[in-house]
Amino acid sequence: MTDTTTATDLQRRLDDLRASATGELERASDAAALEQWRVTHLGRKSPLSDLMGGMGKLSPDERRLVGSTANAIKRELEQAFADRESVIRQREVSRALERERIDVTLPGRPPSVGALHPITQTIEECVEILRGLGFQLTQTPEVETDYYNFEALNIPSWHPARDTQDTFYVRSPDLVLRTHTTAYQARVLSTQQPPVRIINVGRCYRAEQVDATHEWMFHQIDGLAVDEGLTLADLRGTLTTFARRMFGLKTRTRFRCDYFPFVEPGVYFAISCFRCDGSDADCSICHGSGWLEILGAGMVHPRVLQRVGYDADRLTGFAWGMGVERIAMIKYGVDDIRQFYANDLRFLEQFK
Ligand code: DAH
Repeated sequence: MTDTTTATDLQRRLDDLRASATGELERASDAAALEQWRVTHLGRKSPLSDLMGGMGKLSPDERRLVGSTANAIKRELEQAFADRESVIRQREVSRALERERIDVTLPGRPPSVGALHPITQTIEECVEILRGLGFQLTQTPEVETDYYNFEALNIPSWHPARDTQDTFYVRSPDLVLRTHTTAYQARVLSTQQPPVRIINVGRCYRAEQVDATHEWMFHQIDGLAVDEGLTLADLRGTLTTFARRMFGLKTRTRFRCDYFPFVEPGVYFAISCFRCDGSDADCSICHGSGWLEILGAGMVHPRVLQRVGYDADRLTGFAWGMGVERIAMIKYGVDDIRQFYANDLRFLEQFK
């Protein structure tokens, strides 16, 4: 084999190699095949490197000639590789876009939205109305001193009224879980000057035998107004306005005597049944009586005022306390107070 033959031979093999490499490149259709091709044809152990390694046997002229052909082919293959690579990448991007296409015309999946608890909703509704009547909202601690919960409200330790409000006693002396939100009255009066118009909202606790109308934890809103010249008529006007906003403008109201140690006189306040107004003997809301008792109220007992240093000859006050659960039960026709705290979504979702 002469040098010439070898040179011609190499030229021919270069041509073949170019043809087969280009052909294979055309068939490489994804990134993996392309990478495989690159290693095979442009890597250190490629047929082309092999062939270029064999050029040592050629004469310098031939080597230059074959070398420049080989280099041209190498550049050509590199360029072809780059072109093919961009075609394939482009194609893969389009495929990915196609796969991830979002149909913006599809209807969305509605997110599941929570809602306020029915008791929270009822509180907000009551507070909104009472604020509109000029009452300022306050919230005092659920753990109260025995003094503010009982003594300051004319309920000394021997008083029978304690029996109806038995509660949970905290180990530290004289602390109780408050039995009513009325427990703030003396606190507030001793830090504020009249005129006072205030409501206290929150949880109360009693050691109750739990049944359809009693829970050991419940919510109350207590209202208090102290000023010169306030009378039972102001109490009546305030509560009637509240009741009409809460239960409808046709609501009629009724006061009956009742006893609470911290008011004199004390009354029980009832509203006419908003469902039947007394016309349905089998009414599920009022059971035929036509009236729904919703809260206790009265004129603040002079001794409550005197105890905080108020001049009870000059100042009078009215107060009331209502159970939020009771109001919500009446308003929404709930027949068992325990429903509110059973965490049953089928019940709660009705108040969304
Ligand atoms: N605290 C009373 C109770 O829990 C309700 C009450 C009655 C509050 C009369 C008052 C009031 O402020 O004047 O049964």
